[in-house]
Amino acid sequence: MSEQREPVGVIGVGWVGLVTAACFAELGHPVVARDILQEKVDSLARGEVTIHEPELGDLVRRNAERLTFTTDMTELLDSARLLFVCVDTPPTYSGDADLSRVRAVVEELPEGSEHVLIMKSTVPAGTGESIRRDLPGLSYVSCPEFLKEGTAVADFMNPDRVVIGADAGDEDAAGAVARLYQPLGGEILRTDVASAEMIKLASNAFLATKISFINEIANVCEEVGADVAEVARGMGLDERIGSSFLRAGIGYGGSCFPKDVTALKMLAGNTGYHFQLLTAVVEVNELQKRRVVAKLQRHIGSLLGKRVALLGLAFKPDTDDMREASSLVLAARLQGEGAEVVAYDPVASERAGELLGSVEMAGSALAALDGADAAVLVTEWPEFAALDWAEAAGRMARPLLVDGRNFLDSESLRAAGFEYEGIGKKQEIGAPS
Ligand code: UGA
Repeated sequence: MSEQREPVGVIGVGWVGLVTAACFAELGHPVVARDILQEKVDSLARGEVTIHEPELGDLVRRNAERLTFTTDMTELLDSARLLFVCVDTPPTYSGDADLSRVRAVVEELPEGSEHVLIMKSTVPAGTGESIRRDLPGLSYVSCPEFLKEGTAVADFMNPDRVVIGADAGDEDAAGAVARLYQPLGGEILRTDVASAEMIKLASNAFLATKISFINEIANVCEEVGADVAEVARGMGLDERIGSSFLRAGIGYGGSCFPKDVTALKMLAGNTGYHFQLLTAVVEVNELQKRRVVAKLQRHIGSLLGKRVALLGLAFKPDTDDMREASSLVLAARLQGEGAEVVAYDPVASERAGELLGSVEMAGSALAALDGADAAVLVTEWPEFAALDWAEAAGRMARPLLVDGRNFLDSESLRAAGFEYEGIGKKQEIGAPS
């Protein structure tokens, strides 16, 4: 008989919560996961995973015996001492993180609770301290999550590092959390709560800064005839810089970078400190989404009445997440210029359709390109690399493609009859017609 592993509780079964629950179950822990939405709990109990995340559905079904989904907080509290809080912290109108769901969880904990509250939700630095003040006696550990959508399970199972923040008196609780993560092999960093909270925000803000930086370099490359992919390759070989997150494109999106960069900027602002660099990071990102419009106009002049196809809508491949996707801004800008927008995404079309009511959704990439005056590759889905681009060229009214992710092979596209333009490459300026 294998030894019984420490039970784990998970509160909030969104992306992070479900991955956390499924992965700890895979590691052999009995897991009770609680969400307030009955419908979600019921479908997960049937093994139905509605978010598109590689491996996650299999993991949930394979570990069904160790995974319990419930709406009942008491069931959760009775089953596990270690409780991971994974509720979302969306931005408020002020740009601060909305902590109402975190607070609601805290309010449900009984006075004198001997549970360990392990905060995975991304919260402003100082949150842990205020929760501990409100609930003396509660053990509190900050354990921020660094997984990426699309590779969430692999990221969880092979972490670069696990950050565990605890203050004086909570050393045992921090040790218990460290033991959960020990089998995964990543470096375990033990620190204080406020520093752990800042590590999460600073990491996301730094990655977003890298992206805005390379996007600005790309814009300069276009002016001076350099190729940003070559520049990024050369920069990335310097170990101090590193090669990741230097892919120029049409801006970052998703549920994390836009929210967390603003939240950190506001957190600093609320203390009276103006975080100038992040102001620029956000502005560069907003402008980057819009630059595609000017690129199209350089080729075809006015977009009024022109049919523009968007290939990909999700904020990145391997997810159907549309939160803060660059496609939302781009579609609105194109429509603002009078273009007729048609779009296709391999998995996000349904979610996108709810958000982009006036955009025509096509059933395939080729159908989207039919009769189009131009196309923009927005999300680098592998199926776009495998498309028959010669056929696509034949179907379009004008085979013009702006590759917003520098994903396709420019030479093959040109050989297939396309006017091709990427991001941060020497510009191929077509005569406006
Ligand atoms: C991000 C972080 O990478 C995770 O470490 C973190 O845990 C997560 O936020 C979170 O806070 O929950 P995620 O938003 O899933 O993960 O996706 P990323 O792969 O980081 O991509 C974010 C955006 O940046 C995408 O729109 C992507 O297309 C864009 N990107 C990424 C670039 O434009 N260039 C790059 O070089 C890399």
